Amino acid sequence: MDILDILREVEHPAKGDKDIVELGMVDRARVDGDKIVVVLAFPRHRDPLAEYLVGSTRAALVRHFGKEKEILVETIVKEEPKPRKAGLDLGTEEIEKVRHIIGIASGKGGVGKSTVAVNLAVALARLGYKVGLADADVYGPSVPKMTQTEDDAPQAFQEEAMDGSGTVKEVILPIERYGVKWMSIGYFAPPEQALIWRGPMACNALKQMILQVRWEELDFLLIDMPPGTGDIHISLVHDIPMEGAVIVTTPQDVALADVEKGVNMFLNESVNKRVFGLVENMAWFTPAELPDNKYYIFGKDGGQKMAARYGLPLLGQIPLIQRIREGADTGEPAAMSDEGAGLYYLDLARRLVKEVES
Ligand SMILES: Nc1ncnc2c1ncn2[C@@H]1O[C@H](COP(=O)(O)OP(=O)(O)OP(=O)(O)O)[C@@H](O)[C@H]1O
Ligand SMILES: [Mg+2]
Repeated sequence: MDILDILREVEHPAKGDKDIVELGMVDRARVDGDKIVVVLAFPRHRDPLAEYLVGSTRAALVRHFGKEKEILVETIVKEEPKPRKAGLDLGTEEIEKVRHIIGIASGKGGVGKSTVAVNLAVALARLGYKVGLADADVYGPSVPKMTQTEDDAPQAFQEEAMDGSGTVKEVILPIERYGVKWMSIGYFAPPEQALIWRGPMACNALKQMILQVRWEELDFLLIDMPPGTGDIHISLVHDIPMEGAVIVTTPQDVALADVEKGVNMFLNESVNKRVFGLVENMAWFTPAELPDNKYYIFGKDGGQKMAARYGLPLLGQIPLIQRIREGADTGEPAAMSDEGAGLYYLDLARRLVKEVES
């Protein structure tokens, strides 16, 4: 009979009847001539159960071998590997190689943040930069659909941290498409599940998702922020080392009132981040058959006025273009195109680079 099988009879009284082999406490067990030597490892000195377990180990061995062998049961102290750090102290190893982390935000929903974020990421990549985009909208992630990566599943694995602490951390590989690295909670949770997450859970999932991704070296990591200026935003702005933000707005007055909240979220004293500029989305509409006409459906120059009021650059005005909406729905970003909509985004990307690097 294998000596380990005998040792499996020794249950640990404080570990739900798990045996010492299962618990990894048997450091060595060998038959050496007419001697049997078993070394049990305990996580600390003077373990209160050491004596008891040495006794029951000896008893189990005596039961099987009787008096024919000399039985030696020794103990050593072996510290347990440090448990994974609890909470959100995830470290910043993965994100340290990112040069600029920029939030794409607005106070208001539906103004086109995600569309701008996805197309801006693609345009920056087309200009030769290394780019990633994290979709921070837990309740309505749109990046997988907008990039036709809905059926992709990011690989995840565990790895020992580089800091020598023995901490084990989870690493997630981003999805790559259109020259950009994408990450979204949508790759992991079906939408119905995300909807029932309470605020703190959503915040944690988000931060983990952004901080555990192996982005490698990036020039730009864009964060597509969820609509609003609530708790999730405040905690994101605090916990993700963002350098600043780009604020998206439509020209409407009502949108502008909310945008003001969005701008304040970054500029207020406790946060004190840069706002690189505004993007006026859906600035006008030009029908294909009347290419010289501009219809200011949502008002004219609202973004410009807002920019002037805050002393911020207007990074771009993107018209309402059917190709943009179609691209968002089919997952082929308009920024891939060399004409029309594509040019607006390339232009926006150049302006942003200029602001960030200035
Ligand atoms: N310039 C544009 N031309 C045409 N359609 C656009 C344009 N910008 C955005 N859209 C469309 O408007 C809708 C809303 O855009 P999007 O989802 O990007 O907004 P959002 O601000 O991210 O919304 P949410 O606040 O829900 O996150 C989408 O259907 C998108 O395709
Ligand atoms: Mg969005």
